[in-house]
Amino acid sequence: MSHPDAHVRNRDLPPIPGPLPVEIRERIFSLIPRYPSKQAVTLPALHLVQDKLRCVPRWAVEEISDILDLSPAEVHDTMSFYGFFRDESDRLGVRRLWVCRSLACALRGADGLLEKASELLGVPVGGTTSDGTLTLELAECLGACEGAPACMIDDEHVHDISDESRMRDLVQRLRNASTGPA
Ligand code: FES
Repeated sequence: MSHPDAHVRNRDLPPIPGPLPVEIRERIFSLIPRYPSKQAVTLPALHLVQDKLRCVPRWAVEEISDILDLSPAEVHDTMSFYGFFRDESDRLGVRRLWVCRSLACALRGADGLLEKASELLGVPVGGTTSDGTLTLELAECLGACEGAPACMIDDEHVHDISDESRMRDLVQRLRNASTGPA
C-alpha cells in the first residue's frame, strides 16, 4: 500500500548520478557464471542495485541490460513484475521501518501505531522522508507474534511496541541514527 504523496515527496530528492559503482558492476559480472543464463542474473542484479542505490534508476536498467546482453525492456519487465523494486521517483530511504499489521499485532493496536509512525515521520505508508533517510513500510506477520505489536528496523526485530510513546522513542532513535547503525 502506498500513498500518492510518497511520490511527490521523493521527487524532492536530487537525481542519482550514474554510472553504476564499479563494485556493483563487478558483482553482477561475477554472478554470470553461477547462473544458467544471463537472463537469470536479472533478478539478483536488480537487488544489488537497489540495495546500493535504494532504487533502480532508468540508467541502471540500461546498464544491467548491457551487462546481461538483454534489452532494457526485458530488465524493466522483471523489475516491474516484482513489487519490491522502486524507480528513482519512489526510492527507499537509507533505513526502513516496518510495522506489522497482521492479526496478533492488529489485536494489540498495530493500526494506531502505524498511524503514529506516519504522523511522526510525516510520510504515508510506503513514503520516504524528504531527507531520504527513512521509509515507512507495512509488514505482514514478521514471525514475532509473541512480541506483538512488532516492528522491524531493516533486518532487526523490535518487539512490544506497546503504546504510542514506545513508537515515539523508536522513531526518535531512528532519526538520531539515520545515517549510521541504529
Ligand atoms: S502478527 Fe505481527 S509478528 Fe505476527
